[in-house]
Amino acid sequence: MAELPQNLFGVALVGSGSAIPSQSLTNDQLGQRVDTSDSWIRTRTGIGARRVIGPDESITSLSSKAALAAVEMAGWNLESIDLILLATSTPDDLFGSATAIQAELGAKNSVCFDLTAACSGFLFSLVTAAQFLRTGAMKRALVIGADQLSRWVDWDDRRSCVLFGDGAGALALEATSPESDGLIGFKLKSDGFRGNCLNLPQVGKYLSLASGINHQQGGFEFIQMNGQEVYKFAVREVPLILAEVLELHEIHPDKLDWLLLHQANQRILDSVAERFSIPNEKVLSNLSSYGNTSAATIPLMLDEAVQDGRIQSGNLIASSGFGAGLSWGAALIRWQGPA
Ligand code: ACO
Repeated sequence: MAELPQNLFGVALVGSGSAIPSQSLTNDQLGQRVDTSDSWIRTRTGIGARRVIGPDESITSLSSKAALAAVEMAGWNLESIDLILLATSTPDDLFGSATAIQAELGAKNSVCFDLTAACSGFLFSLVTAAQFLRTGAMKRALVIGADQLSRWVDWDDRRSCVLFGDGAGALALEATSPESDGLIGFKLKSDGFRGNCLNLPQVGKYLSLASGINHQQGGFEFIQMNGQEVYKFAVREVPLILAEVLELHEIHPDKLDWLLLHQANQRILDSVAERFSIPNEKVLSNLSSYGNTSAATIPLMLDEAVQDGRIQSGNLIASSGFGAGLSWGAALIRWQGPA
């Protein structure tokens, strides 16, 4: 990769928000549908329950709620937002849902688009939004991570349906001086050659439109996952990419206040923490309540820890997202909070 240009501006993390569906589905309730048990799910994953979106809820409604909370914490006027970037693989509309969020918020001056990178989506979006702020092209960006994988899991497949839940989280980013930069470093990676261990493939109805013109209409299947391969990928690649970013910025792991990983499996969190000798009390986890909410896990967890006072202004956080693609990334961030 080419040498990074000099940053004109820093990026401050000034507000957070989150929103979850009202329905909670426990492991015991799931056990009434598929052949599983609370003890199997808890031991293998750390998950106790997950939120499942109801018929009256949507990615747009959850994201708007999370975004509004982040904007209020930041103390922004809605018309001052330049960018709304929605990380999701499960929009309400295949053309994207970021503009629907704009309309719901009334943020009429923002440019809005979706970014798809599965469970790495929030980290990829954070870094993408930061580039607009660094160059001075924009001043204020809302980055939202939201997914509704419950709509796309096979609820009869016990190997995958126990893992996922729905939710949304948002972060308000603001251009600041380079000295107060809150995105200290990052690294993003993709490996399409290993992409077939986690997919949500298209299936369609074959149609013959005219003689010799064959066509397949759109539609999607359920999530297909080779759990063991994804697990091996995560416990190998996440420590490597985190170590790369820490070493590049000469930050020893004991200087970190928090480890904030994509919430996929407690065993993955524990394994990464052990690799860096990070004590349990610095490892943020809400898997037991929400399971894997895909692009939402990182901002949802961050907001929870900001709200309950664990994350304080000035705290240094190492974060890593990983998932389908395959895609993965790491970022070192400093939470600033509202002025
Ligand atoms: N309840 C009870 N038994 C189960 C269940 C279940 N829910 N699921 C699988 N089993 C059984 C299997 O059938 C198997 O039985 P068998 O030995 O008789 O064949 C046994 O449990 C062991 O199955 P494994 O697949 O070997 O279990 P493992 O310890 O690997 O745990 C898990 C499975 C939890 C899926 C794990 O591999 C994992 O967490 N992988 C990572 C998945 C992940 O994080 N995916 C999301 C990535 S992010 C994104 O982009 C969306």
